[in-house]
Amino acid sequence: MRVLVTGGAGFIGSHTCVELLNHGYEAIVVDNLCNAKPDVMDRIEKICGKRPTFYCQDVCDREAMREIFAKEKPDAVIHFAGLKAVGESCSIPLRYYRNNLDSTLSLLECMQEFGCKKIVFSSSATVYGPYNPSPYVESMPVNTATNPYGWTKVFIEQILRDFAAADSELSVVNLRYFNPIGAHESGLLGDDPDGIPNNLMPYIVRVAAGQLEKLTIFGDDYDTPDGSCIRDYLHVVDLAKGHLKALEYASKHCGVEAVNLGTGRGQSVFELVEAFEKASGVKVNRIVGGRREGDLPAIWADTSKAEALLGWTADKTVEEMCADSWNFVNHK
Ligand code: NAD
Ligand code: UFG
Repeated sequence: MRVLVTGGAGFIGSHTCVELLNHGYEAIVVDNLCNAKPDVMDRIEKICGKRPTFYCQDVCDREAMREIFAKEKPDAVIHFAGLKAVGESCSIPLRYYRNNLDSTLSLLECMQEFGCKKIVFSSSATVYGPYNPSPYVESMPVNTATNPYGWTKVFIEQILRDFAAADSELSVVNLRYFNPIGAHESGLLGDDPDGIPNNLMPYIVRVAAGQLEKLTIFGDDYDTPDGSCIRDYLHVVDLAKGHLKALEYASKHCGVEAVNLGTGRGQSVFELVEAFEKASGVKVNRIVGGRREGDLPAIWADTSKAEALLGWTADKTVEEMCADSWNFVNHK
């Protein structure tokens, strides 16, 4: 099967390309490298002995995408491309709406024109918004977000539902990711944000590596057992494998499904820092600071649908996630 992977040079996309190539799929990556390094395809080749076909291209550019569809004739699409920093989306909302929505629309128009009927989309736990209690279940309402980034995910899920409602042959899987961390065991692929990281694990590893002075834990006065926020951290390789399961499902069924990809277990910020220290043997210099605006106290997934529908569960432990994140920063 020929799979067009938008955003395939990014953190989750690159790990998914490895799984695709290792399982006999052909991967065609379209990425404008706005948040990825140019050598990612070389790294994928080092791991798999094969490389994806690569187009350095903005997915918003519909004419360029038409040419790629005409040449490559993909059987399915995995749509990772998008801007993803929550804080930044509040300062430059129009850029987020333009990039995330336009890229999706140009992609769907090409799918329609070239008869490509299967799409797996990178949605997020953020679509559950501030009012649903954890564990999040797919049947909960998903019509409120707390920031422009989150709204793009809510809107794109709706666009995909409308797209599928108008074509009974379409198959759409909206994968709602929780908090992916970890890295490929080779140390060749991982989460490597430019500048100061927003997310917890990249921040922890840079403090441990001496590249940043200290971690600030955003709040220890939440209504949680140790006062810090709880999230459902999952290994990026487990997450990547979930995309292959979603593709298999989409090949056999039409219609739209939303599926949570998480472990079903929550870890607090303190617990994650301690697990990292244990796995790496390195102390993480930290202080407790105030709450970060917009953070919700406790988020974790109900994963029963992923298991029942896709036959997928996250297998890797928090220790493996921490060890692989640390291995990546030391190999870079
Ligand atoms: P990432 O930034 O590493 O990867 C996204 C890739 O898309 C990058 O390589 C970037 O260069 C590319 N891109 C962005 N806009 C593009 C465009 N218009 N045309 C072509 N390429 C473009 O992010 P990631 O962590 O791998 O996330 C992948 C997807 O998963 C995103 O849609 C993100 O919103 C979603 N997601 C991520 C998380 C997370 O915690 N990492 C959680 C939930 C959902
Ligand atoms: N945190 C700190 N210090 C830091 C960074 C984070 O204490 O320097 C805390 C946060 O307050 C939060 C937890 O670590 O409690 C996790 O924060 P992240 O920024 O790593 O992740 P979020 O849960 O805020 O958001 C992530 C992605 C979103 C996605 C969401 C889905 O960044 O894109 O998961 O649940 F939508």
